[in-house]
Amino acid sequence: MTGGAELATELRKGKRGGIPWIAILDGAGKPRITSDGPKGNCGCPAQPHEIDHFMAMVDATRQHMSSNDRKVIERELRTYGAYLTRPRKSPGVAAYRQAVSNVKHGRFNAAVKEIGAAFSDGYAPETILTDPSLRPLREDPDRRTELFKLVREHVSTHRIRLVDRQERGRRIRLRGQVVDMDTSKPLPGALVQLFHTDASGEYRPGMDAGGGAGNPRLWGYLRTNAEGRFELDTIMPERYPNSSIPRHVHYHVWADGHPELASECFFDSDPNLDDRTRKSAPERNFPIVTLKRDDDGRMAGSLTVRVPAKKK
Ligand SMILES: [Fe+2]
Repeated sequence: MTGGAELATELRKGKRGGIPWIAILDGAGKPRITSDGPKGNCGCPAQPHEIDHFMAMVDATRQHMSSNDRKVIERELRTYGAYLTRPRKSPGVAAYRQAVSNVKHGRFNAAVKEIGAAFSDGYAPETILTDPSLRPLREDPDRRTELFKLVREHVSTHRIRLVDRQERGRRIRLRGQVVDMDTSKPLPGALVQLFHTDASGEYRPGMDAGGGAGNPRLWGYLRTNAEGRFELDTIMPERYPNSSIPRHVHYHVWADGHPELASECFFDSDPNLDDRTRKSAPERNFPIVTLKRDDDGRMAGSLTVRVPAKKK
């Protein structure tokens, strides 16, 4: 609106109080009533006292509005106001914010402590895998091992993103199902750890040929859902520098009562995946994933993760 600010300044007589600001004028252009209520401007009424004043504005000026229309306006405002001002539970947010502030100021020990407190309070552990403000913490190998433990202990989601927006690499999505190797029965609630190399083929910066896999920079934990399924958004791992070992994603699975599984998956499109590896993959329990373009344009593929049966 052209000239709105000037008009408001004139009508408001220098009073401040934010926008939107409403003035209902009489025939001579003078305000009959404005949205300046007893506790300030209520141009966007949400609190009960703001709605009271807004309805007072309506009552002071309405001419052709029926009582029923007035009732509808008030009812809708009160419903929407109650929604906007509802108490919100934000478990662990205060501790998490404190952690972010600690990272910003280089106080990594304190940050890890606050993250633990946030998780205990119910803050979603997977957040720390991708929050750019926690990158310095994730990139510190010593702190990372502490983060591994915390996420492992608290994670409950079956769907995670393993890389933040700044991470280089082609985005892929892996959909998996964890099953019992003997019966093919899905295993819900299984803890899955996943990790892989970055777009330079490194687990840790500067480490050659698969070094640093014990403390990788790109990692995550999740828990399978009721159907034993999980979903991972990440990047296509690069092969190790100066190596012909095919690209792969490592995973460890801990399912209730089953022996731990340590395995990895390959990619069908990988030129380094030679015939010998392809042939031996099924008996080594290494799935080969075929990536296809998803409805949302992302390359996606699925794998079945076979966990050894429970020991009798
Ligand atoms: Fe590896």
